[in-house]
Amino acid sequence: MALPGRITLWEAGPRDGLQNEPGVVPADVKIELIDRLVDCGITHVEVTSFVSPKWVPQMGDHNEVMAQLKRRPGVTYQVLTPNMKGYEAARAAGAEAIGIFAAASESFSRRNINCSVEESIERFRPVVEAAQRDGVKVRGFVSVAVGCPFEGEIAPQQTARVVKQMYDLGCHDIALGDTIGVGTPGKIRAAIEACARDVPLEVLGGHFHDTYGQALANTLAALECGVTRHDASVAGLGGCPYAPGATGNVATEDMVYMLDGLGIETGIDLKKLVQTAWWISDRLGRPPVSRVAKALKSKCL
Ligand code: HMG
Ligand code: MG
Repeated sequence: MALPGRITLWEAGPRDGLQNEPGVVPADVKIELIDRLVDCGITHVEVTSFVSPKWVPQMGDHNEVMAQLKRRPGVTYQVLTPNMKGYEAARAAGAEAIGIFAAASESFSRRNINCSVEESIERFRPVVEAAQRDGVKVRGFVSVAVGCPFEGEIAPQQTARVVKQMYDLGCHDIALGDTIGVGTPGKIRAAIEACARDVPLEVLGGHFHDTYGQALANTLAALECGVTRHDASVAGLGGCPYAPGATGNVATEDMVYMLDGLGIETGIDLKKLVQTAWWISDRLGRPPVSRVAKALKSKCL
């Protein structure tokens, strides 16, 4: 099967990773993490979210993070915005790229953003319109794309329906979130195939959590389907606070090691990445979950 020659890797660690830490990681550590990741060659990074600090206190320092970001040309620094209030705050803080997040199931939508799927689409409509007017890039997520912690397995058509709604809103970069990492390659393939019947394949991306150790296999399945946008989290940090039991995204080091082995270009320096994984893990007081970071520790540090 022909694999893409190059992909866009989205680093989710500073947002998806650190939003799930038991404590609030100091803003200066977040900023240094982002800067180190960019130094590794990362060009797309989720830096924080403009959600309610009552819901996710770990991201409550978003203004400080944005103010101190050392922005470099050619790098996309994205923030999550669930509604107009978040969008306006993100813009006031200088955001030029946002992520909006819907869900494939009603139960998860209600638990995560306190509204139905339809209501969330209506909330995103003015956000996308404002972003288009302001020249702000918009990425969409559809969570629980193959499985939901409250409703179980999700049919591919159900995910495709929400993906199409996001696309029709004007969102032309949409990541399929396996929020609780229950997907296996066949399910991921089925979800992608169903979505690609309704939206162009180039629009789709993979955002796979590694709770069941399937995220690399799922990434390979998505690559085989022709998906060229893939999310990962340094040191395997993360999870969603409103998805019980969810662990981090596939570790960026594991993803880059696999992509290097497949001859797929990322422009990312694996050695520096392993150093960064250990650096943030030391700050958090535990080793990275990444197998590659552990295996390469003595060679890289
Ligand atoms: P709500 O309570 O329904 O909102 O929350 P509301 O409009 O009724 O407002 C209630 C209060 O929240 C008000 O304040 C608002 O001002 C405030 P009060 O009057 O009580 O003082 N508020 C806000 N404050 C700051 N920023 C905002 C904002 N909006 C309202 N943007 C809301 C709705 C969406 C805000 C809430 O449910 C929320 O913040 N949820 C956060 C969910 C979240 O961040 N989850 C994790 C990220 S998603 C994820 O990890 C999945 C992903 O990785 C993909 C995958 O893995 O599948 C992306
Ligand atoms: Mg996630």
